Amino acid sequence: NTHIVIMAGGVGSRFWPLSTPELPKQFIDILGCGRTLIQLTVDRFKGICSMQNFWVVTNAKYVDIVKQQLPDIPADHILAEPAARNTAPCIAWACWSIKQVDPTANVVVTPADAVVMNPEEFRRVITNALAFTAKKNAIVTIGIKPSRPETGYGYVETSAVVDNEICVVNAFKEKPDHDTAEKYLQAGNFLWNAGIFVWNIETITNCITKYKPNIAADMEIITTTGDVANIFPQCEKISIDFAVMEPAAADELVYTHPADFGWSDLGNWASLHDKLQKDDNNNGAVGNVKLYECNNCVVHAEDAKKVVLQGLDGYIFSEKNGQILLCKRSEEQRIREFSAE
Ligand code: GDD
Ligand code: MG
Repeated sequence: NTHIVIMAGGVGSRFWPLSTPELPKQFIDILGCGRTLIQLTVDRFKGICSMQNFWVVTNAKYVDIVKQQLPDIPADHILAEPAARNTAPCIAWACWSIKQVDPTANVVVTPADAVVMNPEEFRRVITNALAFTAKKNAIVTIGIKPSRPETGYGYVETSAVVDNEICVVNAFKEKPDHDTAEKYLQAGNFLWNAGIFVWNIETITNCITKYKPNIAADMEIITTTGDVANIFPQCEKISIDFAVMEPAAADELVYTHPADFGWSDLGNWASLHDKLQKDDNNNGAVGNVKLYECNNCVVHAEDAKKVVLQGLDGYIFSEKNGQILLCKRSEEQRIREFSAE
């Protein structure tokens, strides 16, 4: 009785104009492979459970897009948030809903916008983690070997292997500052939290009740009265990482399954360039794109008839619905600011 919860409420503002509030990155074929990120997310769970056991939590304005892109997910499993309250309320709502139909469910929670290059290895790791949480009150996060002192991720401090490949987590630290991240990287026993969680429904609902009784109380009201419209927008706005992972790790309830399946958060143009197939001049392009004397570019123009670029080195070019971006790759952190104007 495995259930999969897909969190798909983000806005992906760093990928403008490709990703917009009307159609954020999880609903886009960003890799140019014919499937959107959320479709790829579902695809990689093939064989782990039936489509009847998938749940998607997203903003109300994206429900029709989800139905269109994932027509096999039951309509009542698409949870429409009237307001974005971050991942703790999102996960809580999904887990309280699952508990109503299947109180002994085993659950995987995943973001909708990550990339996994080796889905077979992904399924092996997830199956292992599910076997662990089926018999133990544990929170398992999927741990990725860090390659840089990234401050946008959560870190788990690992110790002894307890079961198969699963390790005890001594501490969970969400988004450390740069110096701390550097220290973790040097220490060698820290992994990135991939934001993929495995737990049984009893464990997670108990943990939310313990660490965030206010959110648990809101969920009890929502599941008994169905009043999402009034209750959900008042839920505390907090991520699962701060709300549950940090305190649960201190209470020795957190474990990690180290994994190496080509995971990437795909959070910016640099990571997209990294994942795209490159030509001889290190350009990665999606769409009908012709490049002349260009090097180190990342180009995404899925709906342009034709794009011709000459003489660019280290640029981002993106076209979507008549909105165009041409920006130096080294300046990509300013895109949010440009697109807001
Ligand atoms: N439904 C819903 N509602 N989904 C949401 C909401 C919300 O209010 N907020 C975020 N999400 C979705 C995003 O679309 C994404 O798929 C996922 O939840 C994670 O949210 P992010 O906002 O992308 O989190 P983050 O990147 O800052 O940090 C998380 O992911 C990192 C790995 O990518 C944390 O779990 C970190 O610890 C982790 O390292
Ligand atoms: Mg993210």
